[in-house]
Amino acid sequence: MQMIAPSLLSANFKCLQDDIDMINSSEADWLHLDVMDGVFVPNISFGFPVLEAVADICKKPLDVHLMIVEPDKFITQVRHLNAYMMNVHYEACTHLHRTISEIHKAGMRAGVTLNPHTPVSLLEDIIADLDLVLLMSVNPGFGGQSFIENTYNKVRELKEMILRHNSHALIEIDGGVCLDNAQKLYQAGVDVLVSGSFIFKAPDPKAMIRQMKQL
Ligand code: DX5
Ligand code: ZN
Repeated sequence: MQMIAPSLLSANFKCLQDDIDMINSSEADWLHLDVMDGVFVPNISFGFPVLEAVADICKKPLDVHLMIVEPDKFITQVRHLNAYMMNVHYEACTHLHRTISEIHKAGMRAGVTLNPHTPVSLLEDIIADLDLVLLMSVNPGFGGQSFIENTYNKVRELKEMILRHNSHALIEIDGGVCLDNAQKLYQAGVDVLVSGSFIFKAPDPKAMIRQMKQL
């Protein structure tokens, strides 16, 4: 199953409703929401008032990517969005096992995100508890950056680890995803592709979503 999660970060914030209508009527599987705090990453995106408005009108499952320090503080607020997936960064969680348990207790699926420099092998003792691993294929904080090629090696290593542990975790990729690398990523074992600027800058974003799913 090849899944696509368009990233709202590249939407037109002057007319958010139009872009969410487009997502709702598209073949997109999830809507990816990037929350940045200006501390964990060198940028600030949007916070809960915007997320709540989006959650009200979005019909797709919400994939919330928290690029923030101390994500544990916001588990209840993310749950109130009725989020499907809550992604926290490995680098932001001192007690990752506790954080994952709390996300599950709140009734959400739990994802762990790795920055480009963070080795996949660090997940060896938690992979069986995860619903998803999000591999950053750019340094988080901005849309429109170039894909880091070493991501393919990380996908292969992660896929092998998932099979070895009999884990049901999905593999998701975020950053610089476009038609040129999408097929190779699916072939390497990726389940979900996040794509921001490539989809929203396409002349027909809905057609692009369909094309990326059919690869
Ligand atoms: C980057 C964000 C991404 C971003 C991807 O820090 O986590 O989700 O929206 O954007 P593109 O697809 O333009 O690289
Ligand atoms: Zn993201």
